[in-house]
Amino acid sequence: MNPDLQYLHPYPFAKLAQLKQGLTPPTELGHISLSIGEPQHPVPLFVLESLIAHLHQLSSYPSTKGYTALREIIQQWLCHRFNIESALLDVDKNIIPVSGTREALFALAQCAIDRTASSPTVMLPNPFYQIYEGAAILAGAKPHYLNCVAEDDFIPNLDLISDQQWLDCQLIYICTPGNPTGAVMSENYLQKLIGLAQKFDFIIASDECYSEIYFDESNPPPGLLGAASAMGLHDFHNCLVLHSLSKRSNLPGLRSGFVAGDADILEQFHLYRTYHGCALPPATQSASIAAWTDEAHVIENRQLYRDKFDIVLKMLSATLAPVRPDAGFFLWAKTQINDSDFAAQLYRQKNITVLPGQYLSRQVDGINPGENYIRLALVAPLDECRDAANRINQFL
Ligand SMILES: Cc1ncc(COP(=O)(O)O)c(C=O)c1O
Repeated sequence: MNPDLQYLHPYPFAKLAQLKQGLTPPTELGHISLSIGEPQHPVPLFVLESLIAHLHQLSSYPSTKGYTALREIIQQWLCHRFNIESALLDVDKNIIPVSGTREALFALAQCAIDRTASSPTVMLPNPFYQIYEGAAILAGAKPHYLNCVAEDDFIPNLDLISDQQWLDCQLIYICTPGNPTGAVMSENYLQKLIGLAQKFDFIIASDECYSEIYFDESNPPPGLLGAASAMGLHDFHNCLVLHSLSKRSNLPGLRSGFVAGDADILEQFHLYRTYHGCALPPATQSASIAAWTDEAHVIENRQLYRDKFDIVLKMLSATLAPVRPDAGFFLWAKTQINDSDFAAQLYRQKNITVLPGQYLSRQVDGINPGENYIRLALVAPLDECRDAANRINQFL
């Protein structure tokens, strides 16, 4: 077996299941899960209809590159959303559909890392989406965790990284808006990182799967490709973005997203993926075309989250007092006691599951940025979120 498998950490939800084992919550209270970031708003009906209408396409093998029509609609969406001139993104060279960003985030490191280098390193935020770490480990690279703390607005402090560390870095994962903190990187910040990626020659993989869940309709979060094009980096050298329909369109089960950016890297990634074998099923591609074409359902979706944040933030203001994130659907809330004790007691007393912050982070330089934080995913319907906030208030 691959010896690197032993270095993989247990997944946060495996740890959570262990934490809850042996605890008996009150049966009169129905269970409320705020732990998993799985959207629960309704699947857009027109996407479902498109999926069903195209099931007959199962009789043919899909290509790794996906339908041209899918890449075309993705190209249009990207250019419109991030203010990129359409001639800069070639439908054939700059975009590959992927079977959800999780799969692509993982595969990218396997494709991109040169494990024969003297100190192959993958940088990633801390706390983080655990796939980044596992991808680095199985690609034979050393994870370099970048603490995201409140004093830095939960964004990695680039000034703390030495030239040698940048030289060793082959790939950096960033997540904007962040999971779990909801922090959004500014265009200036992204451009500073892009400058470093040009100077020290590393790849930026910008996980932007929460980019469409934000509060101010007139101020959507910026993205890496938009930032690159605004600074005149028209070939997007060393820049990749990953987007998903999972959160934007409430379609986590569809398994559909895309990676876009640097054509040279994507050519190699395409080669890798012909072996990796994660082409999107034809009906999934047709349904994805429908989903990327429509914005009305995304605007509605944002409104549902906005309503929940407004109510829950107000209800918890005198107790847990969480801060409104820049974007996304998580609350990253500070706890007065140890985060796993908080989660265990809240489950035992109020039958609510939240994720302890330390399950999403590692101790680095004497700091564990997840310590005494919990992550609350406001994915359940409004009434359930309100009920959860009530119970948390009673608990506190
Ligand atoms: C930060 C982040 N990236 C990527 C994903 C994966 O999303 P998907 O594979 O559904 O596109 C998730 C899912 O929860 C996530 O939180």
